[in-house]
Amino acid sequence: NWSMDDFIDAQIADIREKVGDSKVLLGLSGGVDSSVVGVLLNKAIGDQLTCIFVDHGLLRKNEAQEVMDSLAGKFGLNIIKVDAQERFLSKLTGVSDPEQKRKIIGNEFIQVFNDEASKLKGIDFLAQGTLYTDVIESGTDTAQTIKSHHNVGGLPEDMQFSLIEPLRSLFKDEARELGEKMGMPYELVWRQPFPGPGLGIRVIGEITDEKLEIVRESDYILREEIKKAGLDKEIWQYFTVLPGIKSVGVMGDGRTYDYTVGIRAVTSIDGMTSDFARIPWDVLQDISVRIVNEVKQVNRIVYDVTSKPPSTIEWE
Ligand code: XMP
Repeated sequence: NWSMDDFIDAQIADIREKVGDSKVLLGLSGGVDSSVVGVLLNKAIGDQLTCIFVDHGLLRKNEAQEVMDSLAGKFGLNIIKVDAQERFLSKLTGVSDPEQKRKIIGNEFIQVFNDEASKLKGIDFLAQGTLYTDVIESGTDTAQTIKSHHNVGGLPEDMQFSLIEPLRSLFKDEARELGEKMGMPYELVWRQPFPGPGLGIRVIGEITDEKLEIVRESDYILREEIKKAGLDKEIWQYFTVLPGIKSVGVMGDGRTYDYTVGIRAVTSIDGMTSDFARIPWDVLQDISVRIVNEVKQVNRIVYDVTSKPPSTIEWE
């Protein structure tokens, strides 16, 4: 009979035997899979694990801090945090095409990761949060982890890694269960999917600091209210987008001409298809009032009521 405790013990023994006295490198994204791998490896080999966490400036509010507090603080992982916000933003200046933005963010990510990795000495292994679904499928969102493995082929020639993929036999819900068994917090283990390009594809068109701030703050309020309403586990993804249009409003005695924020919340099994979440009107009302009141330069909120297909979940 398969039990998670047996799985953990077997993996730890396996990792120790494989790694010996060598060192392992792991790219942490803040997502479930890489975090679970990090905690598991840390249990197995402690400081022989070095993690690299790139803050590209497109993370959600408080996200980088939460990852560091939890994984480096509470769990004691050895994490190098790279503050690369300016590097990414300057590369993105003037770019408005969604695919171009993705490409720039993806390439820059590899660059930053490789720059850091090449400073490290004596690394023989690269760990990844590859899941069973990544192994059998390709072209899905999670297949990104497989791709990033090929990307690491771009590292200097003298750095040759063997892969360690302890979650290879697990489905997503099993990876979550593993995380819970190891004492990882609910917020981390049940985190909603978040795309690699982050808020960069939720600011429609060109990314600016000002627009990022509006998306980040409105997204934070949305998350707070969804959690307060107890809907965070049944909605697959929920976030705000900034289409970049301005419209006329009235506040106090004055006319305003400010941004519209879109709310996207969907139910889904795997992200391949989705339906818009039936959030109660009263909850939408609370979210709307708070965003308009608390986020500067916003005077209108719209709710996206399209399914996928024909829409996609993200707006870009
Ligand atoms: P779409 O917008 O294509 O999204 O319906 C389906 C799922 O994939 C996520 N997504 C991405 N994840 N890099 C990622 O790692 C990306 O470029 C990307 N684009 C979309 C999206 O959040 C949803 O969960």
